[in-house]
Amino acid sequence: MSNYHIKHLEEYFQVYRKSVRNPESFWEEVAEEHFLWRKKWDKVLDWDFSKPEIKWFQGAKLNITENCIDRHLHVRGDKTAILFEPNDPKEEAEHITYRQLHERVSKFANVLKEKGIKKGDRVIIYLPMIPELAISVLACARIGAIHSVVFAGFSSTALATRVNDCEAKMVITSDGSYRGSKSIDLKGIVDDALEQCKTVDKVLVAKRINSDISMKEGRDEWLQPLLDAAYGDCVPEVMDAEDPLFILYTSGSTGRPKGMLHTTGGYMVYTAYTFKNVFQYKEEDVYWCTADIGWITGHSYIVYGPLANGATTVMFEGVPSYPDYGRFWEIVEKHKVNQFYTAPTAIRALAKENIDFVTKYNLDSLKVLGTVGEPINEEAWHWYNDHIGMKQSPIVDTWWQTETGGILISPIPFSTPTKPTYATLPLPGIQPVLMDENGNEIKGNPADGRLCIKFPWPSIARTIWGNHQRYKDTYFSAFENKYFTGDGALRDEVGYYRITGRVDDVIIVSGHNLGTAPIEDAVNEHPAVAESAIVGFPHDIKGNALYGYVILKETGEVRNRENLRKEINQQISDKIGPIAKLDKIQFTPGLPKTRSGKIMRRILRKIASNDTGNLGDTSTLLNPEVVEQIMKEVIK
Ligand code: WT7
Repeated sequence: MSNYHIKHLEEYFQVYRKSVRNPESFWEEVAEEHFLWRKKWDKVLDWDFSKPEIKWFQGAKLNITENCIDRHLHVRGDKTAILFEPNDPKEEAEHITYRQLHERVSKFANVLKEKGIKKGDRVIIYLPMIPELAISVLACARIGAIHSVVFAGFSSTALATRVNDCEAKMVITSDGSYRGSKSIDLKGIVDDALEQCKTVDKVLVAKRINSDISMKEGRDEWLQPLLDAAYGDCVPEVMDAEDPLFILYTSGSTGRPKGMLHTTGGYMVYTAYTFKNVFQYKEEDVYWCTADIGWITGHSYIVYGPLANGATTVMFEGVPSYPDYGRFWEIVEKHKVNQFYTAPTAIRALAKENIDFVTKYNLDSLKVLGTVGEPINEEAWHWYNDHIGMKQSPIVDTWWQTETGGILISPIPFSTPTKPTYATLPLPGIQPVLMDENGNEIKGNPADGRLCIKFPWPSIARTIWGNHQRYKDTYFSAFENKYFTGDGALRDEVGYYRITGRVDDVIIVSGHNLGTAPIEDAVNEHPAVAESAIVGFPHDIKGNALYGYVILKETGEVRNRENLRKEINQQISDKIGPIAKLDKIQFTPGLPKTRSGKIMRRILRKIASNDTGNLGDTSTLLNPEVVEQIMKEVIK
C-alpha cells in the first residue's frame, strides 16, 4: 500500500485511519518518499493552537523549485511543464518544457538578485495569466524572496494597500493585459498605486500588449532585455522548511485584507499530495485549472502542486466567453485535457448558454472534473455531470480556503462515490469537527454545525503577515483548540460533508435555522431562473424574513412577474417547506460579485434591510454598476 497514491475506497479508509492515528509518521513517510530535501527534519510537527504556533518538518532544508523543476530534468526534461493558451485563439499556444522552465526561472531569479532582491524580501507580482506570472513566482521561490501575487483585476487602491502592508521592495507587472476583446492598462494602475507607496524602488515590466506606456526613470525597467542578458542557471537558495514562501491576501469580513503567510516544506508536501490524489494525475495527462494564479487555487493547483508532480499544467490567459461561450470546451478538445478544474459560477454562466457551445466539441479526453470556491448547487452539478462529464467523469467538489493552502475535503475520484452538492470526505490528515453555538462538538450523524478542524495539517497558514493577534482572533478564538473555518456544514448519515456556506449566511426565520444555499438551489431549479441570491432582512414577527434576488434566463419570453413569484415560492415550499418561502422577490439583471466570482451578500443584505447609508468596501466588486440598479428597484 502506498500512502502517496490512493487508488480505491478501501485504501482511502486505511490511509485515513493511519493519518489520524499517527499523523506524524504518516506525513513523515509521505515527505520522505516523494520529495527532495537538502537535509531531513529534526521533528515532524510542533503545534499549539492556543498560541497559535504550527511548525512542520522543523530543521529540514530544501528549495521548493528544486522539487518542482530540477528533479524532473533527467526524467522528463522535454515534457511540457506549462502549456500556455493565449487569450486570442488565433495566437499559438506555447509549450514550455521542464528544461525551458528551468532556464527561464533561473534567468528571472538572476535578474531579481541583480536588482537587489534577497532572501526574505517581499516582491509584489501584478501580472495577467501569461507565462511570466508562473515564472516570476518560481523565481522568487528560487532565491527565497517572498512573493505576493495580487490578482491583476484589483484596483490601484487595493494594490497599494497590499504593497504597503507587506512593505514590498519590487513590483513585477506588464504593459497591459488582454481579457476577451478588451485590453487593460496594468502599468497605469501600478503607477497610480505606487504614488501611495514608499517601499518600492524597482518595477520590472513584461511586454504583453505592446502599448505605449510611460516608464519612470530609475525605477521602471523592461524585463526582456534583462532576461536576455541573464545567466541561465541559478543555484537555489537553501531554505528552512518553515521559511516563508508567500503571502496571499484574502478579504476579511471587515477591514483590511489579511495577508495569509504560507511556509515552504509543509505547503509543498500537502499541495503535491492532494494534487496527486484529488485529480488522480497520471504521467501523460494534461491538467487544466481555470483559476487565476492571483488566487490560492492558482498557487496550489496551477503552479506548485502540479509541478511538484511533474505534471503538464495549462495556463489560460482568457475568459470563458471569448470569442464565444465555447472557449473552455474548444481548449479541452485542442489540448486533450484530462482533468478540468473550475468554479460553480463559471459552470452556471455556461449552463445558461446554448448547449451547442458544448456539443460541437469532443470532450472524450476528460477523466476528472473539479469545482471550487463556493457551494455548487444541484442544478449546476447535474449540468456539469451530464453535459461535460457525460456521467463518466467523477466530479470532485473540493472544499478549502486561502488559509488552508490546499484542499481539505473532497472525493477521491474513482474511489469515493460522489453525491451532488457534497464535498464528501476529509482527505488524509484532515480531522474536521462540527461545533454547536455553545462550543460543544456535535458527535454522531447526521449533524449540522460550524466547521472546525481539530488537528494541524502541513499547509495551514502560519500567521497573518504583521498581525499575529488577528490570526489568533479570527481562526483560533471562537472554539478552543480548534481552527475555525467560518463555514457551516452538514454531515449526512454516512459522514459526508456538505458545506452550506459562510456561517454569517445563516438566517434564522421564526426560530428556524435556514441556510441560504439550499433555498437558492430550490429557486434555481425553477426553469425560468438562471441564478439567485437569498439574504435575510429584519422582520417584526419572524425576527428575520427572506429576500430573494433573482436573475431570469434570457429566453426572450415575457412572463408575468407576479405569477413567477408564486411559482418560485411554490418551488421552495415543495423542496424545503413553507417556512423558507421568500417574503420579497426582486428580479434583477445581475448580482454584485467579487472578482473571484463570489456574490457579495453583505451588500445585498444591506439593500434588502433598507440600510444603504454605508455599503462598506465595494472596491473589490467586479460590477459596481449593478448595485445602483438593484437599489433603484428594491422592493420596500
Ligand atoms: C471559502 C474560501 C479555496 C479556493 C478558492 C476560495 C468557500 C470554497 C468550496 C466548496 C462550498 C466552498 C467556503 C470557504 N468554498 N470551496 N467546494 N464548497 N464552499 O478560497 O477565497 O479563501 O474562500 O470559499 O466558504 O470558506 P477563498
